[in-house]
Amino acid sequence: MAEFKPNTKGLFIKTYGCQMNVYDSERMRDVLKPLGYSPVDSPEAADLVVLNTCHIREKATEKVFSELGRLRDLKRETGGNLRIAVAGCVAQAEGEEIMRREPAVDMVVGPQSYHRLPEMIARLSRKTGDVLETDFAAEEKFDALPKTREVDGVSAFLSAQEGCDKFCTFCVVPYTRGAEFSRGVDAIVEEARELARQGVKEIVLIGQNVNAWHGQAPAHDARAVEWRLGDLIRHIARIGGVERIRYTTSHPRDMADDLIDAHRDVEQLAPFLHLPVQSGSDRILKAMNRQHTAADYLRIVERVRAARPDIAFASDFIVGFPGESDADFEATLQLVRDVGFAQAFSFKYSPRPGTPAAGMQLQVDERIKDERLACLQSLLNEQAQAINDASIGRRMKVLFSRAARRDGQALGYSPYMQSVHVDNGAHMTGRMAEIEVIGATMTSLRGRLVTAAAEATA
Ligand code: SAH
Ligand code: SF4
Ligand code: F3S
Repeated sequence: MAEFKPNTKGLFIKTYGCQMNVYDSERMRDVLKPLGYSPVDSPEAADLVVLNTCHIREKATEKVFSELGRLRDLKRETGGNLRIAVAGCVAQAEGEEIMRREPAVDMVVGPQSYHRLPEMIARLSRKTGDVLETDFAAEEKFDALPKTREVDGVSAFLSAQEGCDKFCTFCVVPYTRGAEFSRGVDAIVEEARELARQGVKEIVLIGQNVNAWHGQAPAHDARAVEWRLGDLIRHIARIGGVERIRYTTSHPRDMADDLIDAHRDVEQLAPFLHLPVQSGSDRILKAMNRQHTAADYLRIVERVRAARPDIAFASDFIVGFPGESDADFEATLQLVRDVGFAQAFSFKYSPRPGTPAAGMQLQVDERIKDERLACLQSLLNEQAQAINDASIGRRMKVLFSRAARRDGQALGYSPYMQSVHVDNGAHMTGRMAEIEVIGATMTSLRGRLVTAAAEATA
């Protein structure tokens, strides 16, 4: 009997950058599935390679061009059969330049147009029409994406908001992702239900400024005409099976009362807040166009802590923004001491083409940036270590997302986003369980399962 061989093609997507790109890569898989594409483990096994790129700092962009060099060689080895697509923020910002510099690239598609990939592939086969799509069509994109999502794992990103109108003077995102756009309540809730149905226990609402999300309240809510993120979180918390909710990334300007209240009221909302501040100097914050002061930020921290005393804070920092003096940098260190961060991402300022800060006078010397970064990171590391050390002896619920490399170990996350591993816990993968913390490093906790009986309930 002849064996039935479905016409499957290998798809390899390499993802750079932020959580938005992680989500987009998953959705590109969903978009390409009806065409017969299924994921493979390496570019060598693929018929189509997609680089989902990031433009945020110079280094991120450089990585793309060096990866494209490797793919060009691979394409030659396959006799030209491999197809190469560049997606994401570099595609948006430098699409034409990529096509010119790297003829091996077959398609360029921006973050708001990847729902058009099937048409683009068809045009490529026919050798007619455009293979560069960089329109800003967020609404059309979400309408066009398949309703079903295939996820594996217990935690999933759900895009609630896209783009940014804030125009911080150092940042390319408003240019690469387009204007702020909030998805409608129904679409988000439907996607959350679908995820819960597939066994997802943790939903992470994502957006470039996710706390700027707003939407028309459903008819059943007589209380309000417009919902903010806090309302959406309360609603999602009522979906059966959703045991933990997180959201990222937030802007201090949009930290509204309803969201702070949700931290007090909603049991499933994780006590963790990633709230980038960038600098502790008012002068620099102003030059960055962040539209708040250091004192404003500290007040928000205080209000959130009043609502949820055990909350853990995370942040992003930039050192060496143009004009940053020793005193400005000291103000950043002082803010860090005042808050006490559980986690942080810190970067050297990287001038980006087309952004106002790139043209500012008084660019800071690379050596000074290095020194400041090392100094800031050592303070942030001390704080992370102290917070993890203070967890020893505490009990907390951990969502075990995967088995670790070491035999029998399970790996998961605490409510405070600390990574936790336990020995002899491989059977816990996919479940929420109570642990006692028995060890701590700067980046992770070691735990022991408290009782088998605690496993099932959240
Ligand atoms: N929307 C988020 C952050 C998006 S970009 C917010 O407003 O906070 C993620 C982080 O990259 C930023 O918080 C910032 O710390 C860093 N970043 C952005 N542009 C940068 C640049 N030109 N140089 C160095 N770091 C940058
Ligand atoms: Fe970039 Fe500022 Fe928008 Fe964040 S708020 S994405 S840092 S412009
Ligand atoms: Fe990078 Fe684009 Fe995200 S520039 S950080 S991938 S929005």
